Amino acid sequence: MSPQPNASAFIIEGGTPLHGTIAVSGSKNATLGAMAAALAVPEECVLQNVPDIGDVEQMAEVLRSLGAKVDWAGPHVLRINAADLHSSTPAMDVAASLRGSFLVMGALLGRLGEASCPQPGGDVIGSRPIDVHLKGFAALGAQVHREGERFIAEAKLPLEGATIFADYPSVLGTQNLMLASATARGRTRIVNAAAEPEVQGTAEMLTRMGARITGAGTHTIEVEGVERLRGCEYEIIPDRLEAGTYAIAAALTGGEVEVREARPEHLESLTHKLREAGVLIEATDDTLTVRKSGELRPLTIQALPYPGLATDLQAMVAVLLTQAHGVSYVHERVFDNRLLYAGELQKMGADVVTTGTTTAIISGPTPLHAARVQALDVRAGAALVLAGLAATGLSEITDIHHVDRGYERLDEKLRSLGANVQRV
Ligand code: EPU
Repeated sequence: MSPQPNASAFIIEGGTPLHGTIAVSGSKNATLGAMAAALAVPEECVLQNVPDIGDVEQMAEVLRSLGAKVDWAGPHVLRINAADLHSSTPAMDVAASLRGSFLVMGALLGRLGEASCPQPGGDVIGSRPIDVHLKGFAALGAQVHREGERFIAEAKLPLEGATIFADYPSVLGTQNLMLASATARGRTRIVNAAAEPEVQGTAEMLTRMGARITGAGTHTIEVEGVERLRGCEYEIIPDRLEAGTYAIAAALTGGEVEVREARPEHLESLTHKLREAGVLIEATDDTLTVRKSGELRPLTIQALPYPGLATDLQAMVAVLLTQAHGVSYVHERVFDNRLLYAGELQKMGADVVTTGTTTAIISGPTPLHAARVQALDVRAGAALVLAGLAATGLSEITDIHHVDRGYERLDEKLRSLGANVQRV
């Protein structure tokens, strides 16, 4: 597949209500989990509905640096063959800048009995410890230590099933522990597991591969270790965060958008809050139709682990609330520094005040006006794109490589809904 066209900025002329139908791509974060799972077996795995985005390309580089073959077998179909791994350490520079790369630890530890990876980087959204991963590997019998920039885990195979209490329901941590324990001897219980749909996705893929996992989607996951896993075909779940982005864009611009190939059941916290704000939403099993009618009401929102409102949608909801009549409160409870976009929104005329690093107070409605603003991470970047769609005049969103990491052709898709967005 051809990569997304390179460019550094979006120029957006706001003011056009979005209208039409849009299909959601496969989930970015579920894909990263599935790609890591494919490392756990010497047979081929074929992933369907893979989004063509920057983070998938980067994860492919991580896998290739270990010796895996990763090729597009067709549009949105990724073939991974990890028969001939020559290393248990991915290329440091590629792995260090992609948070999801740390998932190779669990897959390699379970298969090879050794794995090492740099401290994962990723977005600047707060401190991002990995103690849940490391303590979990140790509970499964691995020796875990740090050598310079790398974390190293080593164990005699098979790993030993154990009860692991996660101090925090970490999404990647839970996936890593499922990956490592799938072939452990005996039963593993992950208590206080993350329940996000992407965790369920990884559990589904592992189950296809022969793993025995129950409880994914709840806060207690049980893994009954099997002797070996096998290759599989697996279809990635729809991206709930992309679906949520289009739903919010429709409400913000006062249009009407049908979001297809979505899983509305994964977005209940968002649709609940949008309805509370006065947005009209109709949901079927796989579509969401979103329409604004009349004034938006202010909200108090809290970003929480699933099934709470996704932190990855927090910035976009905040942009919507700049158009609500009254004072809204935004509390970020997952990451400790994920309101950095507020400064960029202020440049566009929003009345946003932050108290500390986790609460924003938004007074509205304030007309947004065009400005040159910077995408600070994938979600903050998408939020600024939405703000540009609602602003008068020509806005410029710079550093859109962040947006391209997580959204497949956001500009093209928005244009198909009538938006005036150019990539320059
Ligand atoms: N945490 C710990 N200890 C750990 C791990 C995490 O205390 O060992 C804390 C973190 O400090 C943070 C909270 O747990 O406060 C959430 O972190 P989590 O580990 O759940 O996040 P993650 O697994 O690193 C994934 C997604 C993020 C998404 C979060 C929360 C991937 C590749 N990334 O990150 O996605 O925001 O879960 O849902 O799956 C994005 O797509 O834009 C994105 C940032």
